[in-house]
Amino acid sequence: MAPAVQSVSPLAPLGVNAALEASRNASIKPSPKIFEEFALTDRVGIVSGGNRGLGLEMALALCEAGARAIYCFDLPETPCEEWVKTKEFVEKLGNGARLEYDSVDVTKQKEIWEKAKVIGDKEQRMDVCVAAAGILKAHTDCLTYPEEQFKQVHDVNTNGVLFTAQAAGQQMRRFGKGGSIILIASMSGSITNKDHAWVSYNTSKSAVLQMARSMACELGKENIRVNSLSPGHIYTSMTAAYLDAQPHLLEKWSNLNPMGRIGRPDELRGVITWLASDASSFCTGSDILVSGGHHAW
Ligand SMILES: NC(=O)c1ccc[n+]([C@@H]2O[C@H](COP(=O)([O-])OP(=O)(O)OC[C@H]3O[C@@H](n4cnc5c(N)ncnc54)[C@H](O)[C@@H]3O)[C@@H](O)[C@H]2O)c1
Repeated sequence: MAPAVQSVSPLAPLGVNAALEASRNASIKPSPKIFEEFALTDRVGIVSGGNRGLGLEMALALCEAGARAIYCFDLPETPCEEWVKTKEFVEKLGNGARLEYDSVDVTKQKEIWEKAKVIGDKEQRMDVCVAAAGILKAHTDCLTYPEEQFKQVHDVNTNGVLFTAQAAGQQMRRFGKGGSIILIASMSGSITNKDHAWVSYNTSKSAVLQMARSMACELGKENIRVNSLSPGHIYTSMTAAYLDAQPHLLEKWSNLNPMGRIGRPDELRGVITWLASDASSFCTGSDILVSGGHHAW
């Protein structure tokens, strides 16, 4: 007896079912569908921390995958030159995607909710959220860690991630079509970086891992999926603060993973598109580690 069918892909028939249907009906011409499953055609999304670094790289990947509009939220009033050049590149892709920018501080809950509502009003949908805004401070002794600095890191890395997810999630609920929320955590939420005194950062990232699981459990029935993505060492402005000032760290960090090198921002393009798209439609409450194997040692 065939098991009860509980869900059907919008691209059905897919996979083996497509093969069986083609064998029954000679007029069906087999064609690959795997990249259609990754396509983000007409989707709308928000990427916090999207002015530069991993956020901007991910926003571009979502645009290349066919999103209608990706809104980058970040602190500066106007976006940086790199962002402007990336927007121009998106305009030339010819797939109709738009890269937009809004000056938003993710620690301001009501403001970010309101910004997302304005986007919902305009676009009449919300499908993807990438909460990538984050900060890392200089080494600070855990036994005398100052209260204000500890709170500041948590305000951005934990509270700000929640507020961003709420802002997009409220719009996903409003339009009733589900969605994918991706919280950018870090391998530092699961492991401690050798010889680095980063207790505030590491603690804030651990909180993000549990936030993703917790939200996933509350929102699963609404088909709003929530996962965390935990990168390993990747060269961006955040890590440049260490790597440029202490060049010996490049070799040290590289030797901490089995691949013997640090990662590139573009090496997160595939995983973010997979998580944002229907190709990951049964994935929620998971943490995806992309660390060159750092965590495996
Ligand atoms: N680079 C790495 O090796 C690495 C590894 C693991 C995780 N991460 C995480 O990836 C995310 C992106 O980091 P990145 O490496 O691209 O760093 P980055 O410093 O280049 O980018 C972070 C962005 O967040 C923005 N931001 C900071 N506070 C904000 C606020 N209150 N409101 C809105 N935006 C704010 C910054 O302006 C900046 O544009 C962070 O959450 C970081 O912790 C990075």
